[in-house]
Amino acid sequence: MKLLSLTCERFRNLGAVTLDASAGTTVAVGENGQGKTNLLEALYFLATLKPLRASKLVELVQWGQTQARVSARFVLGGAERELSVVVGDGTRTALVDGKKASSFEGYFGGVSVVAFTPDDLQVVKGGPDGRRAFLDRAVFNRAPAYLQESRDYARALKSRNRLLKSQAPAAHLAPWDDTLARLGARVWARRRALLLEVGPRTSEAFERISRSGLEAHVWSAPSGLDLLEFRAKSEDELQQHLLRALDERRGRDLERGFTSSGPHTDDLTLELDGRPAKAFASQGQARALVLAWKVAEIENLQAASGVLPLLLLDDVSSELDPERNAFLMGYLKASGAQVVLTTTDERLVRDAAGTQARWYRVRGGTAEPYSSP
Ligand SMILES: Nc1ncnc2c1ncn2[C@@H]1O[C@H](COP(=O)(O)OP(=O)(O)OP(=O)(O)O)[C@@H](O)[C@H]1O
Ligand SMILES: [Mg+2]
Repeated sequence: MKLLSLTCERFRNLGAVTLDASAGTTVAVGENGQGKTNLLEALYFLATLKPLRASKLVELVQWGQTQARVSARFVLGGAERELSVVVGDGTRTALVDGKKASSFEGYFGGVSVVAFTPDDLQVVKGGPDGRRAFLDRAVFNRAPAYLQESRDYARALKSRNRLLKSQAPAAHLAPWDDTLARLGARVWARRRALLLEVGPRTSEAFERISRSGLEAHVWSAPSGLDLLEFRAKSEDELQQHLLRALDERRGRDLERGFTSSGPHTDDLTLELDGRPAKAFASQGQARALVLAWKVAEIENLQAASGVLPLLLLDDVSSELDPERNAFLMGYLKASGAQVVLTTTDERLVRDAAGTQARWYRVRGGTAEPYSSP
């Protein structure tokens, strides 16, 4: 997979921008607030159909406009393809070579991106919502079908919560309990599969990055199950587990007006030598842990599909300490991955970007190519 070019139209502050991508590193350089992250967000959204930071699709459309469009040309499996996504008020339409994509799988067809942003670096110390989203991004990358599955779960959850708020009788809730248990078990199974692959790789990458002798461990388990039980259960058994939990807590859920068990309440546990990193990791250790996860994710995608994902790095060089930054830049260079990165300070990335790099100056929602610094 290779990105050839990216075009953004009316996407946030990017009125009309085209980037020709380097086969190596493409660098977007600019002052604060000029549109660097918007560029990466456009590319991430195109490749995943998930916003990188917006909570509502309409935020992606340039103020005063009704529709945004992002398109990119890729080489996928030897053929050139144009993927586009059009965002309107709460809707998005995905197109392959100008034709509406019939399925998510058809649309994604081999595109994979891993993004690494300053928000990711907050994940260890932040709340469970952020960690769940962090985990789920990795699951989407590994299993595109999860996009639909996790949405189906969220929709069923919303319906059940609506019934709880209206004090619906048990007979009305029962069908939703069944649906939620089935869809929830699938979410658990997807997350578990991802963690079984990425978890050990994260421990290994953490050792390479931190050289601290501390052992990193990442895991997640449904409440009421320890890790070994979770690993041993079939998807059917997970469904039964959730059904029981929904049943046991129905009274309390009715009182509170929301569903208190299921994958939407899980946390991703990050540990160093068996202690929760949230409470005990130093800032540097927390960042090394997130970096290790990203490296693990990249290596895992490559091992699973034979294709290196496209990497999007948003201003991480200014957030990482010099040692961690040197590791990351050295790693990227050695991996041969295609990278699009942003920075306010070109000096931080100049050496790692190499002679093949393409440089763009981002200013007021425009991006102009310039020769390497
Ligand atoms: N829907 C929108 N329409 C128009 N402008 C928007 C929209 N959403 C955000 N912006 C503007 O886009 C600008 C650039 O944002 P962006 O986050 O890409 O900056 P940046 O170059 O990454 O800056 P920093 O270095 O501070 O991270 C901001 O000034 C913001 O107000
Ligand atoms: Mg930014």
